[in-house]
Amino acid sequence: MSKFRKKCNRYYKFGAPTMAKKVGVYPYFMHINSEQNPVVEMDGKPTIMLGSNNYLGMTSHPRVKEKAIETINEFGVGTTGSRLLNGTMELHVELEQRLANFLGMEDCVVFSTGLLANFGSISALLSEEDEWVISDQYNHASIIDGIRLGRFNQENKYIFKHNDMDDLEKGLRSVPKGKGMIITDGVFSMEGDIAPLGHLVDLAEDYDAFVYIDDAHGVGVLGSHGRGTSDYFGVTDKIDLIMGTFSKSFASVGGYIAASKEVCNWIRHKSRPFIFTASPPPSTCATVLAILDIIEKDDSYQRNLLDMALKMKTGLSDAGFEVTDSHTAIIPLIIGSEKKMLKFFHELYKHEPKGVFTNPVRFPATPKGRELLRTSYMASMNADLIDEALEIITKVGKKIKVI
Ligand SMILES: Cc1ncc(COP(=O)(O)O)c(C=O)c1O
Repeated sequence: MSKFRKKCNRYYKFGAPTMAKKVGVYPYFMHINSEQNPVVEMDGKPTIMLGSNNYLGMTSHPRVKEKAIETINEFGVGTTGSRLLNGTMELHVELEQRLANFLGMEDCVVFSTGLLANFGSISALLSEEDEWVISDQYNHASIIDGIRLGRFNQENKYIFKHNDMDDLEKGLRSVPKGKGMIITDGVFSMEGDIAPLGHLVDLAEDYDAFVYIDDAHGVGVLGSHGRGTSDYFGVTDKIDLIMGTFSKSFASVGGYIAASKEVCNWIRHKSRPFIFTASPPPSTCATVLAILDIIEKDDSYQRNLLDMALKMKTGLSDAGFEVTDSHTAIIPLIIGSEKKMLKFFHELYKHEPKGVFTNPVRFPATPKGRELLRTSYMASMNADLIDEALEIITKVGKKIKVI
C-alpha cells in the first residue's frame, strides 16, 4: 500500500477527529437545513445562528434573491472559464467599477473566493528577491499562505506582535526603506478586534511601505454605509490595497482587491490564482451589485447589526462572561480551555427546545489557553432574539461553570 494511503488510513482510525467523534465532542460539518437566517433548522429543531458571517442578513433579502434569479435566467448559471479568456462578462466589469467607487479606490479586481484574492494578490506583488513583508501575527491563514506563494526571498519576513505598533515599527526599521509591504486584517476574524490603522498608516508613510488591508470582516460593518475599516479611520487615501470577500456581508462567494489602476493591472496579468481558475458566476455579480444598491442608500442594516452586537456584548459582560472590547459584528466568549469550550459548544447546540449554534475556536486559530466560542450577529436579528440567546447562553454557562 502506498505511503499516502497508509497515512490517510492511520489518520482515519486514530486521528483527532475520529477520537473526538468517539467521545461525542466533534463539532464540525454540522448540517443546516434552511436559509442562513437568525434562526436556522439544525438536527430537526430551531437553532439560533450565532455562527454565521451573514452580517447584513442579505442571504435571503427578497430583492437580492430576485436579482440573482433574474440574472440566472438572462445569463445562465456559470462562466466556464478564466477571467483572462472567456470568463469576463460585462457584469464582472460593472461589479469591479461599483466596488472601486464604493470603497473610494481607483480600480478593483474580482476573484473567485476571498482566499484566492489573498493568495493571488500577495503572491503576485511579492515577486522580487529584495522585497519584504511585515505581517500581523494573527492575520488570516490565506494571508500566511499567500506570503508562502510569493517568489521573493522567503527569509524577508517580519511577523509583528498582534496590533502592536511598536513592534511593527521595529520590523519596518529592519527593512530597506521603500521595499516593505505591511499586511494586516482590518477586523480580526476570531476576536473581532480592529487594527489601529490611523497609527499604522503614519508608520507606513515614515518608512515608505505599501499598505495591504484584508477587510473581509470590516466591509459592510464599519465606516460610512459599511465602507470598511479604512473609512472608519478616515485613512482610505493612505491605503494601497483593500482586500475583501463576498462570503460575509455580501452574502455570496467570491473575493476582490481594490487598489490603483496600475496595481490592479499588475495583478490582472501576474496573478496565477486569478488567471488559472474560472470566474464567479453571473448570479454572484448580481447578488453583490444588488447589495451595493441597498447599502449605498440605506445604512439601517449596518446600524441594526451593530446595535444587536452591542446589546449582546453588554448582556454577556453583565452576566459575568469574559468578552473583549469588540465594536464589530464578532463577539468572542473567551473560555481558555479546549475541553470546556467544546462542552459549552455542545450544550448550547443541544439545548431544547431551541439550540444555539456558535463557532468553536481552538489552536491554531487562537493561541493555546485562549480557546473561545466565536459568536457573530446579523442585521436581521431583533432584540427579543438576542434576549433569548443570552438567556440560553447564561443558563448553560452557569450549568457548566463557565460563569
Ligand atoms: C480575514 C479573512 N480573509 C480572507 C478570508 C477568505 O475569504 P473567503 O471565504 O471568501 O475565501 C476569510 C474567510 O474566512 C477571512 O476571515
